[in-house]
Amino acid sequence: MEDFDPVKYKKMVKNYQKNDDPLGWFDSIYKDAQGDYKAVFWADLEASPNLINWLKKNPIKKKKSKAIVIGCGVGDDAEALSDFGYEVTGFDISPTAIELCKNRYPNSKVTYLVEDLFNYPRSWIQNFDVIYECNTIQVLPGKYRIKARKAISNLIAPLGHLLVSCRSRKKGEQEDDIPLPLDKDEIDKFVITDKLKEIDFLAYKDSQTPQVPHFFAVYKKSDLL
Ligand SMILES: C[S@@+](CC[C@H](N)C(=O)[O-])C[C@H]1O[C@@H](n2cnc3c(N)ncnc32)[C@H](O)[C@@H]1O
Repeated sequence: MEDFDPVKYKKMVKNYQKNDDPLGWFDSIYKDAQGDYKAVFWADLEASPNLINWLKKNPIKKKKSKAIVIGCGVGDDAEALSDFGYEVTGFDISPTAIELCKNRYPNSKVTYLVEDLFNYPRSWIQNFDVIYECNTIQVLPGKYRIKARKAISNLIAPLGHLLVSCRSRKKGEQEDDIPLPLDKDEIDKFVITDKLKEIDFLAYKDSQTPQVPHFFAVYKKSDLL
């Protein structure tokens, strides 16, 4: 297994994006891990502490509440939602990621699926009480980010919640970065364009050296939409 080389990685992603094939490289990251989920360089190998805090503060209210995890990677967040009582779908465009999840959690109650955020089953529309998005939009370029945001918002059932976790940046900075963090104007489109209500918004720096700024946002869909 080769050591992760950030310069080579960014160049590879840029090449895919230049050729308007922005999804073509994801599976290679998981394939390079050769079956070892610990070798996936972006996997934290624990559920997001912000997700866990929210789940603790917002106990599940109705039986058979459904949650979905966008680009579920190696499965930690999907498993956490399942532990808190949700019926969970975790999906990823990478077949190798989904295989890793199934091997890692052979007794899981989570339904792990290979699906594309841009072409998911119609039955998913407005079908989920909780949607968790962590770091998928930021690895997409240009128009695909807008499409992704809309596709994510369309999954929320009336009165459902969307939780978004991502890297953040100030407007006009890091414009050529991979991943490209979201600025405040971009994340605010969930409210301004998609008409969700912002329930909580956290801008914070993580504990890496150097620290990386992040957003963690909670939105709710009104029952009137
Ligand atoms: C940066 S990783 C984040 C993975 C995970 N959410 C986490 O926080 O560790 C982005 C994930 O989104 C997946 N992905 C990218 N585009 C997707 C799409 N169109 N549909 C489904 N999954 C997608 C990738 O395969 C990858 O697993």
